[in-house]
Amino acid sequence: MNKLDTALVTAALKDAGFGLTNSAEEADVVLINTCSVRQHAEEKVFSHLGHLKHIKESRPELVVGVIGCMAQRLGAELLEHEAVDIACGPAQIPQITKLVKKALKTKEKSLAVTREIRKTNPKNDALEKFESLYSRADKRIPNQAFVRVMRGCNNFCTYCIVPFVRGPEVSRRPADIIEQVKKLAGDGVKQITLLGQRVNAYKYKNGDKTYCLADLLSMAGEVDGVEWIRFVTSYPSEEFFDEILQAMANLPKVCNYLHLPAQSGSDKILKAMNRNYTTGQYLNLLDRARAIVPGIAIAGDFIVGFPGETEEDFQATVELVKKAKYKNCFIFKYSPRPGTTANKRLNDNVPQEVKKNRNIELLAVQEKISDELSKKFQDKTVIVLVEGLSKKPHLNTKEGENQLQLVGRTASDWIVVFNGQENLAGRFTKVKITKTTPLTLFGELC
Ligand code: 5AD
Ligand code: SF4
Repeated sequence: MNKLDTALVTAALKDAGFGLTNSAEEADVVLINTCSVRQHAEEKVFSHLGHLKHIKESRPELVVGVIGCMAQRLGAELLEHEAVDIACGPAQIPQITKLVKKALKTKEKSLAVTREIRKTNPKNDALEKFESLYSRADKRIPNQAFVRVMRGCNNFCTYCIVPFVRGPEVSRRPADIIEQVKKLAGDGVKQITLLGQRVNAYKYKNGDKTYCLADLLSMAGEVDGVEWIRFVTSYPSEEFFDEILQAMANLPKVCNYLHLPAQSGSDKILKAMNRNYTTGQYLNLLDRARAIVPGIAIAGDFIVGFPGETEEDFQATVELVKKAKYKNCFIFKYSPRPGTTANKRLNDNVPQEVKKNRNIELLAVQEKISDELSKKFQDKTVIVLVEGLSKKPHLNTKEGENQLQLVGRTASDWIVVFNGQENLAGRFTKVKITKTTPLTLFGELC
């Protein structure tokens, strides 16, 4: 969601005559797009702001804006920070150009957040316009783009800040979504990722017809130029589950990848999290996904150290991870978020040290599974959509060889690193896998 918002804001500012620069030292305006999901993410923002305050001491004309969920959450409190000129929530990004220009001209501080976001009209026309106007291929990840299908969330998992900062759940009009997909395809985009906090809950009623995500996948699949379609994130409920998996099985452009966060393997903790499913029901969904889409890759999310999580509860999570056989897992230590039910009603009683150890233990369990799954790719040839240069050098490039390391992903989201020329970025290519590690496949261009 944040990557998409960043791309939209960047496009809007470019149209207004601004250009991107690589360092804060050179910039006239620095915007930080922020996440409030965990405290750690917010702490990183404050550390950046500390650095920017330092730059502003010698260059007071520098304009600093904080956009996104942290701006919505903290509002005026953020403006009290010496470095901050603009606080702009996720629903206010259509105003960004106006806010930046005003700050450059007047040096006055501006607050643009939605008061009582849960009570706002969910059909936000300004956002709709902004989204369609500035949705375009983002050169930073060539030929790939995100398309939002829904905003907000109504689920209120007890640990989660999202419903409070992104507002009520609303599904966008199918026609607007497909229009956007067509526009992006016209820009050369080959991979579209449909976004929603609970993307499988997408529902849009138009006359007698109710559109679900499977309909969007099928309509997007008909757009020429689009080759791969993904969607994130799915919620483990019955909502259109089989229909979506059927679409994945039947539509060649829909990638065989499902991100289905479980959060915990303990039914007691799932209940306290307000997740509305049991471990048994969750495993049943995985069985069905694997029956409908053979070879599907599944990724999970877990929170360790939720209030009241005993060693027994945690071991139930370990068991679930062993049974689920995820391709990979994102594991987080519980972070209390102001305003959420868990924070108001439950005691954050799992010591930091225990959270850390559970995180390490769960990662190790998953690493073994990922390792076994990745080994199956040894000597196989895979199709990869190339993202660009690999950030960290993985392979020992032979001396004198003018080869660069590229990174890409397979349709089932495996990361592949190989030597090749930079002009392959944004293109599909075949790679033969020569070495595997739990999270990365290494190979050679075919
Ligand atoms: N603490 C830790 N992790 C969290 N997540 C969401 N809220 C919290 C929190 N308060 C995790 C969940 C979610 C992912 C995006 O972040 O696992 O799926
Ligand atoms: Fe947060 Fe739960 Fe909504 Fe996901 S489904 S965004 S975890 S409240």
